[in-house]
Amino acid sequence: MQKRKIIIINGPNLNLLGKREPEIYGGDSFEEFFKKLQNKNPEFQLEYYQSNIEGKLVSKIQQAEGEVDGILLNAAAYTHTSVAIHDAIGAITVPVVEIHISNIYKREEFRHKSIISSKCVGMISGLGLKGYQLGLEYFKSTNK
Ligand code: DQA
Repeated sequence: MQKRKIIIINGPNLNLLGKREPEIYGGDSFEEFFKKLQNKNPEFQLEYYQSNIEGKLVSKIQQAEGEVDGILLNAAAYTHTSVAIHDAIGAITVPVVEIHISNIYKREEFRHKSIISSKCVGMISGLGLKGYQLGLEYFKSTNK
């Protein structure tokens, strides 16, 4: 049987995980974490994409249609600003789970509003990198 494909799409500054504000985002680089995540979840074929550029994130979301079974999206700062990412999620039928490493509601007020949530199946925020595993658990529990 073919493995279901899930892509993790991370937005700006998440390439700096492990170095960036470790008291908020932890000390692990995403590349290391991604290897462990793939080993723990052999039933999925995982892909990882990161960009600091809004338009590239939009293109990646568009290209996911017909190619993958689910998206774990941490749009990072674009969560709070990007109508284009909101519209791209709305333009595809692939289910998108919104992920945030930190609890965006415990932080500055400008982070309290996600403009992409209304297009996502749900959101996981504040549970650290475990949020990505929990997003995969959601996809395990669904057949689409
Ligand atoms: C983040 C939260 C955002 O507010 C922030 O801009 C990020 C990361 C998180 O994973 O907690 O870059 O999405």
